Amino acid sequence: MNRAHSSKVKKALIPAAGLGTRFLPATKTIPKEMLPVADQPILLYVIEEAVRAGIEDIVLVAGRGKHAIEDFFDRSYELEDQLLKSNRVDLLERIQNIRNMANIISIRQKEALGLGHAVYCGKPIIGQENFAVLLGDEIMYSDPGEPTVVEQLTKIFDETETSTVAVMEVSTEDVEKYGIIAAEKTAQSYFKVHHVVEKPRKSEAPSALALPGRYVFTRHIFDYLENAKPGKNNEIQLTDAMTELATHRGLYATLFRARRFDAGDQLGYLMANIELSLMRPDIGPKLKTYLKGLL
Ligand code: UTP
Repeated sequence: MNRAHSSKVKKALIPAAGLGTRFLPATKTIPKEMLPVADQPILLYVIEEAVRAGIEDIVLVAGRGKHAIEDFFDRSYELEDQLLKSNRVDLLERIQNIRNMANIISIRQKEALGLGHAVYCGKPIIGQENFAVLLGDEIMYSDPGEPTVVEQLTKIFDETETSTVAVMEVSTEDVEKYGIIAAEKTAQSYFKVHHVVEKPRKSEAPSALALPGRYVFTRHIFDYLENAKPGKNNEIQLTDAMTELATHRGLYATLFRARRFDAGDQLGYLMANIELSLMRPDIGPKLKTYLKGLL
């Protein structure tokens, strides 16, 4: 995998400990981040995005079904032995590369108390460093050779040393589903964030700029998460801590360039499966013929 410029951001945290209620009953035993899109789990697309941005250490915050996630990045002697004996070298290499692509450190969020709490669980491992956060159920597809969304953020971070998050423009109908930023344009390609509102009503949204789930933070975010009180839906909200960060330390937001799939949602998951499978040379053409026939 081709790696990016050398960034100041070497660590990433991936929260994958939510209850995944939109995918029940499948997610009763399987974390939604491990559901397959084409032939690999959603989580692997997310990790590949981080690694392409030069991330070396990945902190996975897992809840129930933690073993499925850990086992995926572990060696499977029996499987690898079988693949070797049957001379399926390509597949063997692919399996081995997954293990070696980054240092994977898994920690547990014992209770799903909210995204802010999941991020705070990573504090003992992230320590004093700057880090990226990638939601484990969002796939951001960038063409090969193009910067991934995390890389687009780390480039701004490297210049400004200020926390930077990805935003996208959504319709007025959709503001209620996201964290929405109040921000002003700067002379550069990014916005200066004033505050963030979690899932506002249409009438209360300060803009139509929504947070899809890619962030780069300085360690200061932990100071604000440490003191955070439960917010909307009685969860520890990352957006509340982001408002504190914006007020005291500064926060930028940039419109990202990538094809985004909300794979934690049933429709988004199906769209990811169709589009990413269509891109594959082995199954794409046959799937296209099938879909044309169906419609
Ligand atoms: P979501 O709100 O999409 O996840 O959180 P959820 O709560 O599992 O989803 P539903 O609505 O019940 O289907 C976004 C990301 O944050 C993680 C989730 O795993 C997901 O990747 N998350 C959320 C945590 O790790 N811990 C939490 O307490 C909440």
